[in-house]
Amino acid sequence: MSDLQHVRVEWDGELAIVVIDRVDKLNALNAEVVRELGDVFREIRDDGDVLGVVVTGAGDKAFVAGADIGELAQMTPLTGVEVSRDGQNVFSEIERFPKPVLAAVGGYALGGGCELALACHLRVASDNARFGQPEVGLGTIPGFGGTVRLARIVGFGVAVEMVLTGAMIDADRAERIGLVSAVYPRDELLDRAKAFLRGVTKNGPVAVRMALESIYVAQNSAPQDAASFESAVFGLLASTDDLKEGMTAFLEKRKPAFKGE
Ligand code: COA
Repeated sequence: MSDLQHVRVEWDGELAIVVIDRVDKLNALNAEVVRELGDVFREIRDDGDVLGVVVTGAGDKAFVAGADIGELAQMTPLTGVEVSRDGQNVFSEIERFPKPVLAAVGGYALGGGCELALACHLRVASDNARFGQPEVGLGTIPGFGGTVRLARIVGFGVAVEMVLTGAMIDADRAERIGLVSAVYPRDELLDRAKAFLRGVTKNGPVAVRMALESIYVAQNSAPQDAASFESAVFGLLASTDDLKEGMTAFLEKRKPAFKGE
């Protein structure tokens, strides 16, 4: 993998574990980290051995404590647009990643860290996790997709509350409002996150990919168009070996052995 300073990839079977490692700054996203995240996702995208990705932060304290405030303090109106676009582009690549991406949030997920978790398809957290969009307290607003994705995931009312107050919410509340699917003890987070994701990757890979695609299309289309797309994909999947295998395995009372074809 190309020259990486703050992002590393670990492998565990069919899973790639992307670790943001800038512990001394609570894994804050400077321009370099954002660029490296994009590079890593581009490199693993076409790796046929990878069926799912966990994104996590190094150390016990933070997933990601936000965009790098030292860098943001130097922004001009023009470079500010660039900073926001660069982050949005990388996070959109994660959102559109063709394999399931799960954020394992251990500790602070603030600002750009919360937005990174929102761009992932799935989220689980440790019991010490704290989520928040504190940007207004710094005189700015979420700039990596937070004003777009947060309301879709937790609803308009809580999104407005979080963005306007900038206050942190704890893991229990994050679970109650549907921001995370599960909360685990800190020292079990990564193992439990992998097990959670394996509950996805054990399924037909083509179906998982197309389910993500269909859900994404539905978010950005008129309901009739989304329904047409869903029907077309539903029909298309009947041509896959995975569908034959999945249904035959059920009828033969055995576990399916999907090939992703
Ligand atoms: N950007 C740059 N540096 C950051 C950072 C960020 N978003 N978040 C934390 N850091 C740095 C701190 O400046 C400190 O660096 P230093 O040791 O060189 O002084 C280091 O990470 C540790 O943070 P610290 O504040 O000492 O830890 P803490 O446990 O007292 O507080 C937080 C933790 C998360 C509550 C606090 O760091 C914080 O509020 N961070 C900013 C969160 C934020 O506003 N994010 C949105 C940015 S748009």
